Amino acid sequence: MLEIKELNVSIEGTPILKGVNLIVKAGEIHAIMGPNGAGKSTLAKVLAGDPSYEVTGGEVIFKGQNLLEMDPEDRAHLGLFMSFQYPVEIPGVSNAQFLKIALNAKKKALKEPELSETEFDHLMDEKMKLMEIRPEFKLRNVNENFSGGEKKRNEILQMAVLNPSLALLDETDSGLDIDSIRIVAEGVNRLRNPEMGLLLITHYQRLLDYIKPDFVHVMLDGKIVQTGGAHLALELEEKGYDWLVDSKEEETL
Ligand SMILES: Nc1ncnc2c1ncn2[C@@H]1O[C@H](COP(=O)(O)OP(=O)(O)OP(=O)(O)O)[C@@H](O)[C@H]1O
Ligand SMILES: [Mg+2]
Repeated sequence: MLEIKELNVSIEGTPILKGVNLIVKAGEIHAIMGPNGAGKSTLAKVLAGDPSYEVTGGEVIFKGQNLLEMDPEDRAHLGLFMSFQYPVEIPGVSNAQFLKIALNAKKKALKEPELSETEFDHLMDEKMKLMEIRPEFKLRNVNENFSGGEKKRNEILQMAVLNPSLALLDETDSGLDIDSIRIVAEGVNRLRNPEMGLLLITHYQRLLDYIKPDFVHVMLDGKIVQTGGAHLALELEEKGYDWLVDSKEEETL
């Protein structure tokens, strides 16, 4: 469903992504790990359509369409969902209002019937229960004064309501306490389905204890340098990224 070919991306003339290749099929979970500054968030933001990045080469096909030519809204309507490392606050708009607008916009674009107030209310209640989010969060403004962990959890609620076909979660686990990691992970696991692809960016093996990835990729300096199964994350936790850098150097010697 997602195919990234030789993707090159620059910011203000500085290359950040240097030939990223990745294929995500429906139903698969891919984890991307890698040191700070490797380009993981850049990849996620480029896929979501952040205009501050310049694509200098390569292509991205999502559900048979050229993703890079679509505006962010159309990408979302096609089923792309992205949670950010630093979620934005939207003052003056409640969580429920925001999600109803987003969901109905998506339905409209897909020429599906929009949800009525009552139908949406039921859906929202059901998903909030699933994510173990207290009812008051329905009417609170999107992310405004939410704690770090509450924002992350709220993003998974957004994902639950929007039911994407491809979800990109950027460091959904950072700043979460132990219970919240479990709740977020369980929420994600419940949302898993054979039609959905998932791309998880994470620094920690811990999250992958709960959400079992099919593939683990390591990004170093703008490239995916290693791909393996879930065990690769364990190996990285034990040996650090230097181990990969060192073995890469040996290869080129
Ligand atoms: N808007 C920008 N302007 C200038 N440099 C940027 C910009 N966005 C990203 N970069 C640079 O691009 C590189 C990759 O950043 P990115 O956020 O993708 O890393 P990351 O792999 O997500 O790291 P982390 O694990 O710390 O989240 C970094 O060196 C960063 O400073
Ligand atoms: Mg990042």
